[in-house]
Amino acid sequence: MPAELACIEERCRARFPITEVLYSCPHCGGLLEAVYPRPERPAAEWKALWRERRTSNAALDQSGVWRYREFLGFLDDYARVVSLREGNTPLLDGPLAAEYAGLDRITFKHQGFNPTGSFKDNGMTCGVAQALRLGMTRVACVSTGNTSASMAAYASAAGLKPIIFLPAGNIAFGKLAQALDYGALTLQVDANFDQILAMVRQVAERAGIYLLNSINPFRIEGQKTIMVELMDQRDWTPPDWVVLPGGNLGNASAFGKALREMRQWGLIDRLPRLAVVQAEGSAPFYELMHSSDRSRLNPVTRPETLATAIRIGDPVSWPKAMHEVECSRGVVEKVSEAEIADAKAVIGRCGIGCEPASAATLAGARKLVAAGVIRRDEDVVAVLTGNLLKDQDYIYRYHTGKLQGPSGPEIPGRFRNEPLFVPYLLEAIISKIKT
Ligand code: F0G
Repeated sequence: MPAELACIEERCRARFPITEVLYSCPHCGGLLEAVYPRPERPAAEWKALWRERRTSNAALDQSGVWRYREFLGFLDDYARVVSLREGNTPLLDGPLAAEYAGLDRITFKHQGFNPTGSFKDNGMTCGVAQALRLGMTRVACVSTGNTSASMAAYASAAGLKPIIFLPAGNIAFGKLAQALDYGALTLQVDANFDQILAMVRQVAERAGIYLLNSINPFRIEGQKTIMVELMDQRDWTPPDWVVLPGGNLGNASAFGKALREMRQWGLIDRLPRLAVVQAEGSAPFYELMHSSDRSRLNPVTRPETLATAIRIGDPVSWPKAMHEVECSRGVVEKVSEAEIADAKAVIGRCGIGCEPASAATLAGARKLVAAGVIRRDEDVVAVLTGNLLKDQDYIYRYHTGKLQGPSGPEIPGRFRNEPLFVPYLLEAIISKIKT
């Protein structure tokens, strides 16, 4: 039995050929996922094969996504796969961050080390591979930055035309610069992320363009490898918790699917609990998971947060993410702008750094420890989703005491580190260094 697309809705579970251009179920409108036959080889053989590939010079083996290709077996031919050597991201210890959160230890899986600076690369190499297989010539996405940079790079590398839609005025400048340099047709639209995504879904259908937002099930397949690589790096010992930021909830869906499938394959013996963290002003998933009625998500019509990557009020993947949080006995937390900003500065002081959305993880872990949900001695991995060099203006403002929350109030900045100005005088410079 080959790989197929399956509707995730229990009452439907319709199946479709893997080569159909579909983003949601034509019968019931549910989300789709890639499903595979059960593998026959024992877990130890997969582990050995994947470990051995780390010494190979073949492009596919050097990719931290395609090295695990049997775990995302939707392709039958790898000849046209384009890899920029995505994945291969480090696990980093942050002792200062652990102390800040009230934990004995925290480890960061830093997806910001990817070729275009975020976890999107893990998913995009797969989405673009599927676009090529389907014979598509143009690909599109809406983005607040990282998706656009990633899609532009992978599409151009594969000879496809990237078309990106951005909420006007709400994109990090460095990300826009990447998209332009990678040759994307760039359209800035005067609407928010959720509104543009709804329209781009129609544009994609009408114009025959392949959509590469995380509603695309092949993006999710690629993002599964973040968890596979994590387990491989930990010699297949699962942590107690995996903490991640939640925006459109693609990662929550991908991580949960990966962990469940790893357990089915016998690669791990238990599931870590997922802790999804949202920003207070854009927390529809938090509200859903804390309400008595989980049948419907109430979108936030005007989502607000300075963490632009998670400024999403109507996350498309919520049904998948809800299933994964429930399966893993997970939790959903929300954090304030000041909590995100301070946590980000603490991650910076560990010599690690990340973008604001990623720092929601540490802020969330701290809150969950304080609430007694995460115990001090538990083994916690936080996934930093993006590179420090996004949102530079945010960083400068924080450290100079000029950062303001979306609704106005100034963020005090407990870990402020202001650049100093000194006259061109030896004594003055020496006296500044002494203080
Ligand atoms: N972290 C970063 C750095 C992101 O760029 C995003 C999403 C998220 C977290 C949220 O992840 O959707 O899987 O819950 N960025 C999108 C973009 C919006 O356009 O780049 P999710």
